[in-house]
Amino acid sequence: MQTKIEKISALSALAINNIQEVSENEVAFLSFREKLSLSNISHSEKMKEWKAARLAIKYALDSISLPYPGFYKDEHGKSHSMDGYGYVSLTHTKGLAAAIFHKDMPVGIDLDFVREKILKLGPKFLDPSEIEFLNNDPLLYTIAWSAKESIYKCQGRKGISLKENILLKPFSIEDKVINGKIRLSDFSDHFYQVKVQVEGEMVLTYTIW
Ligand SMILES: CC(C)(COP(=O)(O)OP(=O)(O)OC[C@H]1O[C@@H](n2cnc3c(N)ncnc32)[C@H](O)[C@@H]1OP(=O)(O)O)[C@@H](O)C(=O)NCCC(=O)NCCS
Repeated sequence: MQTKIEKISALSALAINNIQEVSENEVAFLSFREKLSLSNISHSEKMKEWKAARLAIKYALDSISLPYPGFYKDEHGKSHSMDGYGYVSLTHTKGLAAAIFHKDMPVGIDLDFVREKILKLGPKFLDPSEIEFLNNDPLLYTIAWSAKESIYKCQGRKGISLKENILLKPFSIEDKVINGKIRLSDFSDHFYQVKVQVEGEMVLTYTIW
């Protein structure tokens, strides 16, 4: 897959990057702190993943003509821009890395491939009411998983359970946007809309405003 860059609005963009195609020396844009973090990653595949995700942010920012500010992680693992402007979210899976940026609003993104075994995992991340409308379909399960991960990353705090605290409204394969909310926590009644893109076996979801 070639790098895909999508301008969502004047304030937001996403990019999907092929991890194996990231070249060794494409790191000049990284901040000093990021270069240090990169040099501390010992596993070469992890290093490529990390780099591909940051390059994806760079491509997304380029597409809306914003400079790359550098990013740091908080105690929950969520990345924040070093200049305090804008929000970012990252994901990587099976050779692909993706990132989304929004200038004004928190965002979450997730990329997954459809797997049969997700049906067995269902009761671990789904509420019984969700299991009812997902019809034992691995694609729908993967979309539900991915949408919940995007909401989780958008809210950003550890301790929020996909099963107990994130509830999705019924959706079908035709729906391009899913509605969900956080419940039973200090952050109850935060409502989210999640955009869904399916390409073959690949499921991409991200929060929208
Ligand atoms: C943190 C979590 C969302 C990461 O998801 P993942 O599928 O393992 O990995 P992805 O590649 O999609 O995402 C990784 C990125 O998530 C981001 N991330 C990690 N913690 C985060 C947080 N608290 N908030 C927002 N983003 C976060 C990081 O940027 C990371 O990339 P990086 O390490 O290159 O910086 C996931 O491990 C998690 O905790 N999920 C929810 C908890 C849960 O209920 N799990 C059990 C269900 S059975």
